[in-house]
Amino acid sequence: MKRAVYPGSFDPVTYGHLDVIRRSAELVDELIVGVLQNNHKNPLFSLEERVKILLEATKDMKNVRVASFDGLSIDFVRRNKAQFLVRGLRAITDFDYELQMAQTNRVLAPDVDTVFLTTSLEYAYLSSSTVKEVALYGGDISKFVPPVVADAIRRKLQKA
Ligand code: PNS
Repeated sequence: MKRAVYPGSFDPVTYGHLDVIRRSAELVDELIVGVLQNNHKNPLFSLEERVKILLEATKDMKNVRVASFDGLSIDFVRRNKAQFLVRGLRAITDFDYELQMAQTNRVLAPDVDTVFLTTSLEYAYLSSSTVKEVALYGGDISKFVPPVVADAIRRKLQKA
């Protein structure tokens, strides 16, 4: 059974993440999207909200599972008996951090390979932070995130 973990903050999931999820799910028998709990960043959405949104956004993807985790990504990969850790690369600016993380993880778990998928060009500029900023100032985010996310952001900002 080929299994991969795609870890991230997903605060919130964007079309860029979903592109990576869909394409990496085609490469393995099972893809587990791992939502990190103990993020240093101050998230807009709680862990439960991020998981719920991801479950909705991936409900048509049969071999995709969503789970939360705390601690090191590589430990989560190991606990789930996955052989691969997936990350998306948008631009050269991602490379430094991603390479460092992949190499550290490789030392921690030599039996796990990090697999990078280059984000599709149409989403190369996209990030969760940009989406949140556009939404905060009333911009249209429908080209960046699925309706379930746009609705959730709208509700969250109305409450704030
Ligand atoms: O979506 P993000 O915020 O770019 O994802 C970053 C993430 C969650 C993959 C990374 O911060 C991470 O793996 N954090 C958990 C702690 C860990 O394993 N750090 C890497 C050790 S080099």
